[in-house]
Amino acid sequence: MNHLLGIEDLSGEEITDLVYLAQSLKSKRGNHRVLPLAEQTWAMIFTKSSTRTRVSFEVGIHELGGRPMFLNANDIQLGRGEPIKDTARVLGRMVHGCVIRTFDQQDVVDFAEFGKIPTINALTDEEHPCQILADLLTIREKLGTWDGKKIVFFGDGDCNMGRSWAWASKRLGFDLTIAAPREFQPRAEFIERLGDSPLTITDDPRAAAEGADVLYTDTWVSMGKEAEAADRLKTLAPYQINHDLMKLANSDAIVQHCLPAYRDKELTEALLEERATEIFDQAENRLHAQKAVLVRLADIGFST
Ligand code: CP
Ligand code: NVA
Repeated sequence: MNHLLGIEDLSGEEITDLVYLAQSLKSKRGNHRVLPLAEQTWAMIFTKSSTRTRVSFEVGIHELGGRPMFLNANDIQLGRGEPIKDTARVLGRMVHGCVIRTFDQQDVVDFAEFGKIPTINALTDEEHPCQILADLLTIREKLGTWDGKKIVFFGDGDCNMGRSWAWASKRLGFDLTIAAPREFQPRAEFIERLGDSPLTITDDPRAAAEGADVLYTDTWVSMGKEAEAADRLKTLAPYQINHDLMKLANSDAIVQHCLPAYRDKELTEALLEERATEIFDQAENRLHAQKAVLVRLADIGFST
């Protein structure tokens, strides 16, 4: 693995290795004997808002011995129109790796190509791979394994989270169901690119919840889609995770949300508070999963 640009680019073995390494790093937090990022500086270019991703990367880079350098895209020349490939060619000569949150997946791909340093996708409109690695770690902790489990994603199935889940299901072979109204189901081009996979798509949220082990949701209004908010909230309302839906799931099913959560929209306030431990354990796992990614990428960049 030279970069983490998407779950699409990883093999099942690479995903499993990262999740297992994350679990080991979690158990050794505060006692890392080797610091793989010692003497390294990692840039973090963010074009969109972030709480979890930003904080977990800054803390994770620091805990592995490196120095994070947060760059709000608007504060650097990128925000005034300097091309991503020029930004990459400059940073590639100065820092050891880069974490990027932006809109267009191509920007992350171009940065990796022109920067020639390890590049991590911290969310694009296409994928959110770091989140999926943390989610898989949480599923392993709570349910022991993802093998044979029924994972159901409710809501906007055509967003970055839906797509990253679809790739994870294909690479690891677990059952994934996307429950979404027709206009928010994965697009035909994506399904074609995905090819054979264990993915089921339905517009029936109750059928999807039947026998589910993981009920997963995400905001109905992803960053950049704010102008469509009213329409989205109306169309996606039947896909809310609530106590009624939970009655159809397995008795030991868990509720997961990548956060931030919008109360009484994609899931009810009551259910969120009842399931807060498993949801915020999931948020904490962002730190451990990303440290695993950083460890695997640490020795790819140039050495000082
Ligand atoms: N889940 C997630 O990526 O959260 P942030 O947008 O706060 O980073
Ligand atoms: N689909 C959401 C994920 C937020 C972590 C978004 O892109 O805004």
